[in-house]
Amino acid sequence: MQRTWIDQTVEKIDQPVRLNGWVHRIRKMGDKLVFIDLRDGSGVAQIVFYKPDLDEITASIIDTLRPEYVVAVDGKVQKRGEKQINPDIQTGTIEIAATTLQILNTAITPPFEIDKDTILVNEELRLKYRYLDLRSERMARNIRMRDKIVQFFRDYMHRNRFIEIETPILMKGTPEGAREFVVPSRLHEGTFYVLPQSPQQFKQLCMVAGFERYFQIARCFRDEDQRGDRQPEFTQLDFEMSFVEREDILSYTEAMFITLVEELFPEKRISTRPFPRFTYAQSMEKFGSDKPDLRQDKNDPNELAFGWIVDFPMFERLEDGSIQAQHHPFCSIHPEDMEKLDSDPMSVRANAYDLFLNGFELSSGSIRIHEQALQKKIFDKLGISEEEQHDRFGHMLDAFTYGAPPHGGFAPGIDRIVMLLAGEPNIREVIPFPKTGDARDPMMGAPTPLEPKRLRDVHIKLDLET
Ligand code: AMO
Repeated sequence: MQRTWIDQTVEKIDQPVRLNGWVHRIRKMGDKLVFIDLRDGSGVAQIVFYKPDLDEITASIIDTLRPEYVVAVDGKVQKRGEKQINPDIQTGTIEIAATTLQILNTAITPPFEIDKDTILVNEELRLKYRYLDLRSERMARNIRMRDKIVQFFRDYMHRNRFIEIETPILMKGTPEGAREFVVPSRLHEGTFYVLPQSPQQFKQLCMVAGFERYFQIARCFRDEDQRGDRQPEFTQLDFEMSFVEREDILSYTEAMFITLVEELFPEKRISTRPFPRFTYAQSMEKFGSDKPDLRQDKNDPNELAFGWIVDFPMFERLEDGSIQAQHHPFCSIHPEDMEKLDSDPMSVRANAYDLFLNGFELSSGSIRIHEQALQKKIFDKLGISEEEQHDRFGHMLDAFTYGAPPHGGFAPGIDRIVMLLAGEPNIREVIPFPKTGDARDPMMGAPTPLEPKRLRDVHIKLDLET
């Protein structure tokens, strides 16, 4: 018989079905009746085994069942009596009267209870057995919600002429501030790739290539200290558009987030529409932050307070007195600030903007530089020598001489979006296989030392301090 998913059972009253799944809970009533909550990828349903009606084999194995056993059950869907209806579950109006049971695999006792919320279980243990943690209802719901959100973004982008373009994971260093993960090259002794902090340069080059509207559900890698809203690898909805000004990107993004909330989270309420806007200077003065929490009621799980910050400073001064780009060196600057580039660079405003939500930075972006002369000038200001400009960014500077269109883009962080929409306290709760706060994977045990042979292959000799 063909397998029926649990969420389809409600439409199959009085019909025979075969279900597959995991034993979620077992309840025995006297010696004749056994109730099993069976769980599959679509939900949970109650199965009733009435021993006198069962064949001999089924009757003999029913008592050996334990939670998390993997089974196939044949039976008939039947309506529950009025008093037995459970409004809390999707299949609460039916149950399956089982006729036969087959055990497809056994399971030892899990290291923590997965038929309950696992939020209070030791996180190291949850991550070590992440595949079990993900069986719990809340975690499975978060990962499914993430899929729905990503699917929404993909559709929305495609509906608006964007195309998804995959950009390389092995690349040359980007200059975006955070430390990069380094990958040694075997074929080219003594050289290294790095993993992308974001596809920033590639997406700009896609604009030079003439695609006009690029997006990517892009994995980004940053070797930086972890926080609740940061992971060493994370995902962006990265996008870039040609022939646009700041207003085009802000209004496109705002409409996209409003549609996302209306379509997928109708129970949620956006506090202010259109989203309020502040310059960086205003926001710092008024709220002391560039990602203020503007919710009217911070205890309301359904309130979403989006807002924009515009006009970020182009540069910031480091402790050693040198200056670096506050966002990245590809941001264009306000035309009226152009003349201050030499006289007063710290007051120059970038054409850069952020979207914030409930006190978190959701996204950053800017209108970019598309002219070689200005890009060189910014590199000069950042103290990058002519030679280094050529070595590190020659490809960008060259590309700008071959008819680069005006362009700009944005990159909402998917993990943070899902975290906030799911009402979770940190992004690890919405990432299927995250790293710990100190960038380890307790399940696989990464990172690990490599055997000497593998290090030799990539021309590496260790010089460890311990
Ligand atoms: P930025 O570095 O601001 O911009 O990143 C954009 C968004 O990505 C998310 N994010 C992170 N999420 C989880 N863990 C991290 N370690 C992490 N770092 C960043 C945030 C953030 O707002 N290339 C530019 C974008 C552009 O200019 O178009 C960039 O990456 O939600």
